[in-house]
Amino acid sequence: MKKIDLIVGARPNFIKAFPVYRALEKTGQFSLRLINTGQHYDKNMVAVFFEQLKMKEPDINLGIGSGRHGEQTARILDEVEKEFLSQKPDLVIVFGDINSTLAAALAAAKLNIPIAHVEAGLRSFDRTMPEEINRVLTDQISELLFITSPEAEGNLLNEGKDKDQIHFVGNTMIDSLIQFEPLFNGANIKDKYELKSKGYNLITLHRPSNVDDPGNLEQLIASLNKVSDITPCLWPVHPRSREKMETISANIHDRLIMTDPLSYLEFMGLQRDAAAVITDSGGIQEESTFLGVPCLTVRDNTERPITIEQGTNRLIGTQYSNIPGTVKEILSEKSKRKAPRLWDGNASERIAEIVVKKLH
Ligand code: UD1
Repeated sequence: MKKIDLIVGARPNFIKAFPVYRALEKTGQFSLRLINTGQHYDKNMVAVFFEQLKMKEPDINLGIGSGRHGEQTARILDEVEKEFLSQKPDLVIVFGDINSTLAAALAAAKLNIPIAHVEAGLRSFDRTMPEEINRVLTDQISELLFITSPEAEGNLLNEGKDKDQIHFVGNTMIDSLIQFEPLFNGANIKDKYELKSKGYNLITLHRPSNVDDPGNLEQLIASLNKVSDITPCLWPVHPRSREKMETISANIHDRLIMTDPLSYLEFMGLQRDAAAVITDSGGIQEESTFLGVPCLTVRDNTERPITIEQGTNRLIGTQYSNIPGTVKEILSEKSKRKAPRLWDGNASERIAEIVVKKLH
């Protein structure tokens, strides 16, 4: 049997990888290993995803943890290379744009192991973002490029990739969403904080550009306080943002509710029922588009333009004072669900079919 290693490391990776693992498993043609680098490690960032998405435990846990970019990437590279040397996989599959993605791809490339990149070709054209560096370099050394939206093909062709390496398959994060939607909840959180469906905003902000600088973070919170005057806000706080918040003194509005990170099913239920989401996450721009929930992206660029052209996303930039006014505007708008092409729950099956052809 041909051997395939799938590499995961952080919260959004798990959501993208699990349906692909299952689709490959269903073919019965491969010996699969799930390798978790351990880039994320808190229970609510990792274990709860394995439990709720009903995924078997990883075959290998590398336990890398946090660190500077070079340090973290180097540790993953070193540990993952040992695994590849011992097992000699016929294909390595990496997901998204995190440090684990690039490190595993680099280890595989140097051992001449073919790489498949799920979510290839997205570009913000902003090389100050660590994720953009991870995307560009991973795509350069990948042989199979699975894309979620048509414009990714042009981006890859411009960077010298061949057309026959590029496969438009759809979005595996949406595969998970569709499969698990019947189980979405969050009612307990709504009850606890007396939030009504479509009567609150859901916030996730953790990009270094928004939270790492104390002055920026203070302005951002001041603006979210103003939003909370309009509608209550629920913010499950990423550990990176939590750490930075502890270094500043900011007044927090009593309707700006902060919680620990939430589980997948709770978070998704709360996202579906929100009046709007305010975010700097990539995945949430896509999920909110699929769910028809207005999304304000607090960034100056996005690698996911399809969520603006065909979805509910608005790029509002990093002038935080604009956020309350935009929230007011969108609360009076009606949006509905509209999925971009091939965001239909079957992306992972398409990937499995192509992998079968490639390896046989
Ligand atoms: C990483 C990804 C980012 C993705 C995000 C999803 C990179 C470069 N960035 O960012 O693209 O959107 O994951 O969540 O790979 N921490 C904990 N517990 C954890 C994980 C992290 O306390 O389980 C804290 C640590 O202080 C750590 C910090 O969060 O230093 C940042 O973690 P890291 O994995 O470096 O980057 P993220 O900001 O999570």
